[in-house]
Amino acid sequence: MATKKIYLYPVWVRLWHMINALMILLLILTGISMRYSTPENPLIRFDIAVGIHNVAAFIVTFNYGIFVIGNILTRNGRYYRKWRKNLATNLWKQFVFYAVGIFRKEPHPFPINEEQKFNPLQKFSYVIVMYLCMPLLILSGLGLMFPDLIAYKVFNISGLVFYDVVHIILGFVISLFVLIHIYTCTLGDKPGTLFKSMINGYHEEHE
Ligand code: HEM
Repeated sequence: MATKKIYLYPVWVRLWHMINALMILLLILTGISMRYSTPENPLIRFDIAVGIHNVAAFIVTFNYGIFVIGNILTRNGRYYRKWRKNLATNLWKQFVFYAVGIFRKEPHPFPINEEQKFNPLQKFSYVIVMYLCMPLLILSGLGLMFPDLIAYKVFNISGLVFYDVVHIILGFVISLFVLIHIYTCTLGDKPGTLFKSMINGYHEEHE
């Protein structure tokens, strides 16, 4: 069986992704510790968790800037901008494939090529997470870090509580995304194929 190889993940995307993934995992871990452990029984000591959370948040924010600028300046951005027609139908087709077709060994409904490296569900979730959730997560985090900068009241509740609620909801959404993302990344030709792509840059597929 011949193997088709397409170079889809340039070095800067792989580096951005590695730093982002590690830092987001640290943020989730320290975030859970700050939220749910008690002072007598901390998962990670509170002041240490706050310190790690702040440093990781700073790195994620800077790294996020690299993602946005990189996608404006390089061809990688087209994978986020160029959409196939009939989005709703395509999302449904991909969902049915993940729910049923994949277990019947049916072919992927949207094979990967140089022009479309993401299937519709991947693309939709990446755009929502990277261009909606991440900026709101970062802004709400900055609000919590520098409370003097935010409005005293938002929608008649304390500005600090408002930013806190937004930050926690988005943290939860991104944590859920990471779980589903890691699962869908096991659905390549073999369970390790897509992880390998993110290391060597090449998407591999048996023809
Ligand atoms: C923590 C462990 C993570 C693992 C193991 C992982 C794994 C992967 C793999 C294997 C790919 C390549 C397959 C594909 O294109 O879908 C990928 C791509 C991607 N991942 Fe992750 N990921 C992780 C965390 C994250 C996080 C936290 C985010 C965002 C908040 C994220 C966002 C993305 C995006 C946007 C792409 C596409 C990048 C591009 O090619 O332009 N990932 N990930």
